[in-house]
Amino acid sequence: MTTDTEARAVPGSGLKPASGGYLSGFGNEFATEAVAGALPQGQNSPQRTPYGLYAEQLSGTAFTAPRRENKRSWLYRIRPSANHPPFQPHPQGLLRGGPFDEVPPSPNRLRWSPQPMPTEPRDFVEGLVTYAGNGDPGTGAGIAIHLYLANRSMTDKVFFNADGELLLVPQAGRLRLVTEMGVLELVPGDVGVVPRGVRFRAELPDGPVAGYICENLGAPFRLPDLGPIGSNGLANPRDFLTPVAAYEDIDRPTRVVQKFQGRLWVSEFDHSPLDVVAWHGNLAPYKYDLNRFNTIGTVSFDHPDPSIFTVLTSPSEVPGTANCDFVIFPPRWMVAEKTFRPPWFHRNVMSEFMGLVTGAYDAKAGGFSPGGASLHNCMSGHGPDQSSYEQAVRVDLQPHKIKDTLAFMFESRWVIRPTRFAMETAALQSDYDHCWSGFQKARLP
Ligand SMILES: [Fe+2]
Repeated sequence: MTTDTEARAVPGSGLKPASGGYLSGFGNEFATEAVAGALPQGQNSPQRTPYGLYAEQLSGTAFTAPRRENKRSWLYRIRPSANHPPFQPHPQGLLRGGPFDEVPPSPNRLRWSPQPMPTEPRDFVEGLVTYAGNGDPGTGAGIAIHLYLANRSMTDKVFFNADGELLLVPQAGRLRLVTEMGVLELVPGDVGVVPRGVRFRAELPDGPVAGYICENLGAPFRLPDLGPIGSNGLANPRDFLTPVAAYEDIDRPTRVVQKFQGRLWVSEFDHSPLDVVAWHGNLAPYKYDLNRFNTIGTVSFDHPDPSIFTVLTSPSEVPGTANCDFVIFPPRWMVAEKTFRPPWFHRNVMSEFMGLVTGAYDAKAGGFSPGGASLHNCMSGHGPDQSSYEQAVRVDLQPHKIKDTLAFMFESRWVIRPTRFAMETAALQSDYDHCWSGFQKARLP
């Protein structure tokens, strides 16, 4: 289904059309044109395209990937994307790529307070801060975990990531991504995904923004299989929104920054490369409102593993063992009888990085704040803190609703290795282990 579900003004200079919109569905074969008649009909690369637009295929998987995994789109643009001078090295700031060996990976439980918003001007690219990662962009496996903290829009500047797709989890502020395939507007509670290689400019219509990014170096995110859940549930495909085509025709110097093999490079184009007038295909940016997530849980006792909260998964070559699962802990009813309702203590072969968009997380009484983060790596013991434990074992169990909260997890099969910055920042909480102190011994007969 490719219906226009939402019409919304796209303010800003020169973008055409002035009002954008979205197409509904996950990974569909979409077709959209910003100028009537711009999209070739019946073939991808005709000898003469409408208006003399340049045809370009953007491949997100190998040409020969199985059909159910194959992702590619055809773009019709004012200039070929090959039309640019060489890229030169660009300062890295606090952005890091693989192999994440700046410091030895720590076996300790780690938790960070929110990073302060920079006082000096920072756009989206300048405001990227890498906390951790695994794998390597050279091998096509792993993830990198960044924060973004920005207080100004990118101006005459465009970014793309040649290393992987970007899953953005806004925590504060409205972020408008003007991509070469259309405009994605993101607010806290949404997530957005920009495929590998897709160029975009990040604008801040309402001022400062902050959020989390999972840079996925492995297989593109997809919806998880549902197994016995059936044909509905969790994130439903129709709630994913892909922008309609929008373009700008700007002959003005534009710095194009790319991340390639973990490092930033820059080239100065003599035009804006956000000039795709029409496109079709199944490789495109998309967004999803996490409020639409159909949360499933027990209606008897105990609780399922948190995999029941998986929104998107990037599989690895080992079945059921993800390169990365994106998992959320949204508002939901808790009704389990005779059950310890918060997550119990556990040790996991998978590694867990958590963030908090808003509210409080039910396994911690304090210390895990919106904009903060925690990392529980492979086999590290974790679970409720002492005060959450005491409350959970004593409470008179009644159905109750966990409200006004949104936590999430990037869970990976590989150990998540912090950067030097993450281990040395003042935001790292030196007393995190203390939240698991003070437990009374079990009372044996
Ligand atoms: Fe955990």
